[in-house]
Amino acid sequence: MSSYTNFKILSLMISALFFIVQTIMAGDPDILSDFIAPEGVPIDGKFFTYTGMRSFVQQTAPPSYFTYLRASKDEFPALDGLSVTTIILGFRPGDVSPPHTHPHASELLLVVQGSLLVGFVDTNNNLFTKKLQTGDMFVFPKGLIHFQLNEDTSNPAISVSSLGSSSPGLILVPNNLFNTSATIDDTVLALSFKTDVSTIQLLKKALSTPYN
Ligand SMILES: *[C@@H]1O[C@H](CO)[C@@H](O)[C@H](O)[C@H]1NC(C)=O
Repeated sequence: MSSYTNFKILSLMISALFFIVQTIMAGDPDILSDFIAPEGVPIDGKFFTYTGMRSFVQQTAPPSYFTYLRASKDEFPALDGLSVTTIILGFRPGDVSPPHTHPHASELLLVVQGSLLVGFVDTNNNLFTKKLQTGDMFVFPKGLIHFQLNEDTSNPAISVSSLGSSSPGLILVPNNLFNTSATIDDTVLALSFKTDVSTIQLLKKALSTPYN
């Protein structure tokens, strides 16, 4: 082998290794400072405080609608670069959090009131599911499709989740397939779901209005 061929093989191996390391370490990049201070914003205790959950947590009545409250870097800029997000979910009796994924973060969920049926599907199409009681925790691995359901027909449920990214992202599967601004062609969806165009149109119509 010429030394040029050796060099090519070596560079390919190095690129492959680099790619693997990058893939394994995929997550929020480490920042080189304690935190990221935006221009022109006073950095004090207030900057590190988020009060957007108060209205829900301090309420005395059970949730009167399906509640999804998130503190990611979009709502709480101090989280930028810190690899954490919190999500609070409030379920009325029978409420579902439809199948969805957070492409950039694993999610650790704690049931603080009531009970929840939860589950996720892995990349081999295996379903992992469990009925959680108050105080139980469940982890949804990064990027996998998961759901939560309050099966209880008379009591509400509340959960608090921690996610390992300040920008976890959200793909809500039903909306992503059937309720985008310009929706995927009916024929593509009909063939994909082994059904007819009219069934797809029914789904699109049903999803065009909010869940609540
Ligand atoms: C579908 O999209 C519309 C427009 O963005 C939105 O108002 C509606 O809530 C969505 N439907 C569901 C089920 O989320």
